[in-house]
Amino acid sequence: MKINRLKKVDSTNLEAQRLLDAGAVAPFVVFADEQTAGKGQGDHSWNAAPCMNLTCSFVLRPQLAVAEQYLVTVAASLAVKKTIQQLLPAVNPKIKWPNDVYVDDKKICGILISHKIIGSEIESSIIGIGLNVNQKVFPENIPNPVSMSQLSKKNYNIDEVLLILKKNIVEILNRVETDPIASVRYYTDNMYKLGEKSVYTVNGVQKLLTATGIDEYGGIVAEEDLL
Ligand code: BTN
Repeated sequence: MKINRLKKVDSTNLEAQRLLDAGAVAPFVVFADEQTAGKGQGDHSWNAAPCMNLTCSFVLRPQLAVAEQYLVTVAASLAVKKTIQQLLPAVNPKIKWPNDVYVDDKKICGILISHKIIGSEIESSIIGIGLNVNQKVFPENIPNPVSMSQLSKKNYNIDEVLLILKKNIVEILNRVETDPIASVRYYTDNMYKLGEKSVYTVNGVQKLLTATGIDEYGGIVAEEDLL
């Protein structure tokens, strides 16, 4: 898979889209030392100190139908979980539905995915991943961040983290395509706060939910409490 390495870009997701629009052929990955307009979920931005974190976007061609697009989310979050565990065996990252990765009660990674759909099939997916790697101080307005380095007191080579993640995302997307039931079971078993109350953003609305799993479209299965 080709790696497009950039020093500075507005957003690796935007750059991946521009490359696709210009005729680049997936799979490829865009990886930047610095983003000037990193995008987060909803209207949020993604703030990551330059050269300290992994900010990248994979452009893949999942062999999945539109209704199965949540499986890309499942694959991406499991690939991040595996990558963190390979580098930091002492921790057990959990997935906060749909695709935030948490260690204990702190967010270590955010994922932002968009799809190009043709007919009833996914043509390509842009999977943007922001993994906190070596950053040790975060702006106060970021809720509960944590980095790999804060957890292990070590520094990591970000190019190596990218290569490990690249291998994992390809392998796990393959596995999810061939055995979605087992993959969804593993995802569910590794959900953050499974069976416990937690606040989730569902269709842009914050809800206090007790999650028990995901449904056949990747939606959260949960009981709702009053916030
Ligand atoms: C979230 O809000 O949790 C999602 C954050 C996703 C951030 C990553 S960083 C690399 C890629 N490029 C972007 O502009 N956003 C994603």
